[in-house]
Amino acid sequence: MYSDIIAEQKKKYGKRLAILGHHYQSDEIIKHTDLKGDSLELARQIEKLEAEYIVFCGVHFMAESAAIVRREDQKVYISDPNAGCVMANMAPAWLVDKVLTRLIKETGKKIIPLAYVNTPAAVKTVCGKHGGTVCTSANADKMLRWAQGQGDAVLFLPDRNLAMNTADNLSIAPGKRMILNIRSEGTQIDVDEVMDKELLIWPGLCAIHQRFKMTQIEDFRAKHPGCKVVVHPECPPELVQASDGSGSTSYLIQYVSEAPEGATIIVGTETNLVNRLKDMFPNKTILPLGISFCSNMAKITEENLAGLLQNLETAAYEDVSDEIREPARLALERMLDVCK
Ligand code: 13P
Ligand code: SF4
Repeated sequence: MYSDIIAEQKKKYGKRLAILGHHYQSDEIIKHTDLKGDSLELARQIEKLEAEYIVFCGVHFMAESAAIVRREDQKVYISDPNAGCVMANMAPAWLVDKVLTRLIKETGKKIIPLAYVNTPAAVKTVCGKHGGTVCTSANADKMLRWAQGQGDAVLFLPDRNLAMNTADNLSIAPGKRMILNIRSEGTQIDVDEVMDKELLIWPGLCAIHQRFKMTQIEDFRAKHPGCKVVVHPECPPELVQASDGSGSTSYLIQYVSEAPEGATIIVGTETNLVNRLKDMFPNKTILPLGISFCSNMAKITEENLAGLLQNLETAAYEDVSDEIREPARLALERMLDVCK
């Protein structure tokens, strides 16, 4: 029934409406999307879309980022604004600003903030104001390199696993990295220790990816000799090192699609995507490294999507004040420019 309402509304709006979905959405939502992708692919598409109504099926930071880069004639909606990303909430803008300002002042160094796209708009604003930028899991290597070229050190936030995995890719020595102690509003950070560091790391993480364990990889390798293991870079570094490949959700899809027929591939990421890969590639054995659903992604349902589409003209849309939006847009555009 909700499916019929969504189909009717899509017909009514035609090209004026675009429904975008992140790969972690359930199949019942994905089937209604005009475009699906990883965070980078979706962010890149916004301005190019003909549609004036953009409905984002994902978590809130994704819709908010779309609202930052949208054209003036577009409006961005999410059918449940409470679909937050737990990791994004681990770096509140006021605290990022406080810690960064203190470190810049007390070290005298030019510290460039680099925010994972999984952050609130106000954190991207802090990045924009301090000459920093944004990255996604698909371009973290490139953006960290870029940020290194802009100053003396980089503050990467909020995902410590993505930071560590990216630092490994770029061969940043372990002794040149430091995970910040942000307790007591960052006053416990040892500034002397910061002085010779190239990479300062916010201690956030994604519980959905942190849950995977080395023993799971070891068990699969023992049970399925010759299997391949691929994981999202939000997983802990030891798992990434023990895998055959690591990358964004689109990378994981591509890896599976390019694997030979009959291959056994163990995928370490959110379960909706792994289940979809199983259905997409019946001639390969696709197994989840572990069961791990993102409950926030699951807040987008056919019921609330249908409700939003039926009331699109009057529904609340994602709005970001100019004060927040302009510097945040600058930070996002720096990323889009570097990764054209
Ligand atoms: P991707 O950018 O790889 O799609 O990942 C987004 C995300 O939230 C992963 O947990
Ligand atoms: Fe956020 Fe993790 Fe969910 Fe991705 S999987 S949206 S990082 S909580």
